[in-house]
Amino acid sequence: MILIKLGGSVITDKSEYKRFRKDVVSRLCREIKESGKSVMIVHGAGSFGHVLAKRSELHEGHLRNDQINALAIVSRDVRELNNMVVSELIEAGIPSVSVPTGSCFVMDDGKLIINDTEVISRYVELGIVPVMFGDVVLDRRKGFGICSGDSVMMSLADLFSPEKAVFVSDIDGLYDRDPKTANDAKFISDVNENILSGIPTETTVADVTGGVRAKMRAMLDMCSDGRDCILVNGTEDGRLLSLLKGKDVKCTRARK
Ligand code: IPE
Repeated sequence: MILIKLGGSVITDKSEYKRFRKDVVSRLCREIKESGKSVMIVHGAGSFGHVLAKRSELHEGHLRNDQINALAIVSRDVRELNNMVVSELIEAGIPSVSVPTGSCFVMDDGKLIINDTEVISRYVELGIVPVMFGDVVLDRRKGFGICSGDSVMMSLADLFSPEKAVFVSDIDGLYDRDPKTANDAKFISDVNENILSGIPTETTVADVTGGVRAKMRAMLDMCSDGRDCILVNGTEDGRLLSLLKGKDVKCTRARK
């Protein structure tokens, strides 16, 4: 099984509140179908989640009562996005069912607790792809918080031991600086702890969950048992398909 995260930067236009990239998602779903691989899918929130979550500081936990309405709105918005992703998967011929992270699981001080995998496993047994996503999740200590799709990936990797974990994004992989602002940013095709520690922390991300560096951190944590963790650009036609088929494509691999 291959665990795939469709990042918010590729499935939505992050610069505009609730802008779904239907064409891109539809193509990516067709690429996944064509690969013939068995998969589990997670997706990010993009502009359906980060904007309001940041404004209301939902990632800081329950601080004020005016956060409650924002919690409801963000939860609704990411479910709306999830419905559209599931629709594209079904359209591409991949039977899929939504497993909303915040409706099925809780966190404990920011850590997602999945102590019952029965629902996910039973869907998989039936040949149905469970689709989880970055969500507002209740937290035993903080009241609630934001669980990123990357955290969901880490939990699922622990529980289901996928052969590969693939993070689909809108960039080719990791650079030593932000390629969107620095023209001479250098591409890094293999990343390890040493290389990551030399890369500056982004200061301008509009995300409540940390940007590329946090993603690389998660990827390094996930490849501890020899698993391949890969960051690939999903805005390029056919790149995900080639990667899933085992071809050599431009991407960044995390290695211990
Ligand atoms: C964020 O999930 C969840 C919310 C803000 C509700 P992610 O952190 O996985 O989303 P992307 O992929 O960065 O957009």
